[in-house]
Amino acid sequence: MSRSVYVTRMIPQPGIDMLRAHVDVEVNESDEPLSSDELRRRAGSHDALVTLLTDKIDSAVLRSGAGSLKIVANVAVGYDNIDVPAATASGIMVSNTPGVLTETTADFAWAMLMSVTRRIPEAQSFLRAGKYQGWGIMMMLGEDIHGKTLGIAGFGRIGQAVAQRATGFGMKILYYDPVVQAEDAARRLNASSVDLNTLLRESDFVSVHTPLTPETRHMIGKEQLDLMKDTAYLINTSRGPVIDEAALAGALKSNRIRGAALDVFENEPEVHPELLHLDNAVITPHIASASVATRSRMATVAAENVIAALNGQRPPNLVNEELANG
Ligand code: DGY
Repeated sequence: MSRSVYVTRMIPQPGIDMLRAHVDVEVNESDEPLSSDELRRRAGSHDALVTLLTDKIDSAVLRSGAGSLKIVANVAVGYDNIDVPAATASGIMVSNTPGVLTETTADFAWAMLMSVTRRIPEAQSFLRAGKYQGWGIMMMLGEDIHGKTLGIAGFGRIGQAVAQRATGFGMKILYYDPVVQAEDAARRLNASSVDLNTLLRESDFVSVHTPLTPETRHMIGKEQLDLMKDTAYLINTSRGPVIDEAALAGALKSNRIRGAALDVFENEPEVHPELLHLDNAVITPHIASASVATRSRMATVAAENVIAALNGQRPPNLVNEELANG
């Protein structure tokens, strides 16, 4: 009997092509997120789902797949949209796409850091609005980056890649990560491990790279923002709910901190209304990994995970390791 895969939204064509060479593939060509009813229906009628972070794969969806669905292959490194314990309980493998988006995401975190610090979007709006009436020595002054202290909250692959780039700017690097063992990388990058409060107090830039877990939800709220220097900037390219967005909007509005650059939000696609209008907030629509090459590679990595699972092999990026031996 041929095996079938359902792809919940459009993904880059190389991923679809790779799947089609091995299995029957159906794609939600509308590119609109599916309703939970539809997700449940698809989970119950296919051997694999290829999902995106906009799909909520909860216990009800997973229960519908129990007995038939072998794998949910998320096209993302993050998998907080999937109830992994419920998947494990139903014997359904979960995979993600780590590694292939590390450098692209780190590039983007730096683009965000530089944009907010040197006020690039604000300067562009100023110019496009016809307000540039002549050069001024006091015009659009920003802050230097080189030689400052960068604090990295979450020192996994992406956090380390962000730190690597900071070495070229002669920065002091601090990191906080209670989970990842990163001593070798820390030595290589001359980065010092500190607790979160020290990181917040001492950094000129705080860049967030933690996964979203119950422990990291609202890891940075009002109390933590109050520890930051009033000249500091906060950058988030990980997951929105790691930061209390309302508290951050308040801190930016009152100039409690100097600025923030955010690619992710608590209730995407919604953005806290105040952030939409603050000049000291640079905001982008969750595009940190959005390069042509990287998004294509993410799609093919997801396809590789599906193909392995359907061939009875261990998917290369299996999240619920407990299921590794069948
Ligand atoms: C991820 O991979 O988790 C990103 O947020 C989307 O690329």
